[in-house]
Amino acid sequence: MASSIHGRVVTVIRNVLEWVFPILLVTTGGSTISEAVSPPKQPAGQGASLQSVFETEQTARLLAILLDSGRYVINENQELFDDPSKEHKGFSPEVFEHQLTEVFRSRSGIDLQDLSAARLPNGGRELLHSLLVVSKRVVAEAQADINRKDVDFKGFIPAVFGARVAARFTDMTGVRLKQTALAPRNPSNAPDHFEKMVLQQFADPSYPREKVISETIAKSNSLRLMFPLYTTRQCLDCHGEPKGELDKTGYPREGLRLGQNGGAISVVIPIGR
Ligand code: HEC
Repeated sequence: MASSIHGRVVTVIRNVLEWVFPILLVTTGGSTISEAVSPPKQPAGQGASLQSVFETEQTARLLAILLDSGRYVINENQELFDDPSKEHKGFSPEVFEHQLTEVFRSRSGIDLQDLSAARLPNGGRELLHSLLVVSKRVVAEAQADINRKDVDFKGFIPAVFGARVAARFTDMTGVRLKQTALAPRNPSNAPDHFEKMVLQQFADPSYPREKVISETIAKSNSLRLMFPLYTTRQCLDCHGEPKGELDKTGYPREGLRLGQNGGAISVVIPIGR
């Protein structure tokens, strides 16, 4: 896939990462990358050290998992938010944080409440903490909407949560997070060339679950990473069958099925963060 991308050093990085991931990610529950690949060669023209590339990739992957975990928690509580008979839903930022901590721990092996004890690369601890803070703030600001009575659909859905969190996090840290899909509902989520190529790979049903794809960008000394998203039952209320029929948000359904790839989180992060 790599050779068609101009001006970027894609090269053997992908294979290199596959080789090193089982070592780096033992503490994160990173499960899918298990092929034995031969040891890496130093990529030509690569300014950053391999070590910092690996660490940056690990951080990018964890940030994507944390954003996706937040989306998952919002998705799991959708019925509660949209219950018109209840006023106070009890979904405070602290309740959200508790649920998020559980989901993230089960997916990554990392305890958000004790980041100082986690084995994390340089900069990763601070960035994960910032993403947690921003996520809680977005939930705090949505309280008035969530707790409205006599309205069913409140519009606080995973994509809205994710977009708000991503925008703030990018402002705060300079690390870009984006939700994207091959046929995006929101044009501002449209994939660029690299994202589109990767999404096409993710869409292949035989593609290994949760296996990330990344590349380094020599010009800006940054790394970009794509993390695949999968549909749960709740996603299908909006993105499932029957294809073309409008969901409660007014968009035509995509006809996705349970467990299918439903897009990706795209991360762009300076190497060595
Ligand atoms: C209540 C309906 C609803 C649910 C539930 C829902 N989505 Fe969405 N999704 C939307 C809407 C509406 C947008 C576009 C939001 C916007 O305007 O930015 C969207 C956007 C997205 C995007 C960004 C790309 C795009 O199409 O703009 C992805 C990826 C996505 N959804 C995946 C999922 C996944 C995976 C789940 C389950 C975890 C899920 N969605 C649950 C309605 C929903």
